Amino acid sequence: MRHQIISLYKKADMKGFAIGAFNFSTNEILKGIITAAQKLKAPVIIATSEGERNFFGCDESVAMYNVIKKKYPYVILHADHTHSFQEIKKVVDAGYPSVHFDGSKLQYRHNIRETKRAVDYAHANNVFIEGELGSITGGSTTHKEKLKDILTDDLLTNPSQAKEFVELTGVDSLAISIGNAHGIWKDKPKLDFERLKQIKEQTGKFLVLHGGSGISANDFRKSVELGINKININTELRIAFAHALIKGLHTREDYTPYKYLKNVSPTVSKIVEEHIIIFKTNNKI
Ligand code: 13P
Repeated sequence: MRHQIISLYKKADMKGFAIGAFNFSTNEILKGIITAAQKLKAPVIIATSEGERNFFGCDESVAMYNVIKKKYPYVILHADHTHSFQEIKKVVDAGYPSVHFDGSKLQYRHNIRETKRAVDYAHANNVFIEGELGSITGGSTTHKEKLKDILTDDLLTNPSQAKEFVELTGVDSLAISIGNAHGIWKDKPKLDFERLKQIKEQTGKFLVLHGGSGISANDFRKSVELGINKININTELRIAFAHALIKGLHTREDYTPYKYLKNVSPTVSKIVEEHIIIFKTNNKI
C-alpha cells in the first residue's frame, strides 16, 4: 500500500494539487467526507487523531475504511498525530495504511531517534509515514487568543534542520510549522512562504500543512504552488457538525435520530467540497 500512496503524493507534487486530509470521529462526519470526495472524483485522506480513534474505535475505523474502499477505492485511512511507538504499533497492526508520528514535543535528537523507530516499523509493514519537525501548536477548536501572541519563532521548522531530519529518519513526508496552527484563532494565520520554499528546496520531500482551518484560499493556493502536498482540516468540520446537530435537535419533530441528524452529513460535505476545489483535488482519481 505504501507505494500506491507514494504514487498519489508524486502525482499531487507534479500536477500541483494537495490531497485533503479530513478528520472524523463520528459516522456522520465520515459520511460527509466520503460523499464530497465521491461527488468531485477526488482522492481523499480520512484521519483520526488519538482522541478521535479512542472515541470511534481503532479497529472500527479500519473496518469502516475497508467497507468504504470497496465502494470508493480512492480513500486512505491515516493515523494523525500519534505520539508514541506503542500507538504507532497499535494502528499499524490494526491495518492503518498511513500514519503520522509526532515527536515534535521531544528534544530534536530524541525526535530523530523515536521517529526512526516508528519509520522502521511502518516501512517493515508497508505503511506510509509522516514525521513532524517544528511544533504545530493548538487544538482543533476555537481559541480565545491571537495566534501571533502564541506562535514564537522557536516553534517554526528550520529548513537546514529539516534536511538533516528527513535524511536521518527516512520519513515519507514531513509536517512543518510555518505560521500554521490547529484551530481557529482571533487573528488570521500568517504563513512564512519563504520558509516553506526553503524547506522544500532543502528536503525535496512531500510536505504537509496542518492547521488548515482558518487559512485563506489564496494562502492554500500559494502553499500548494510552493510544495505542500497534503492539507489537514478538522476544526471547520467539527463546527459544521456541531451547528447542524444543534439545529437538527432544536427543530426536531420527534426523537428519531435519522430525522434530526438528516442535515449533518450534507453540512459537513459542503465544507469538504469547498476545500477539495481550493486544493484542486477534484477529478484526480
Ligand atoms: P485544523 O483543526 O486547524 O483544521 O487542523 C487540523 C489538523 O491539522 C489535524 O492534524
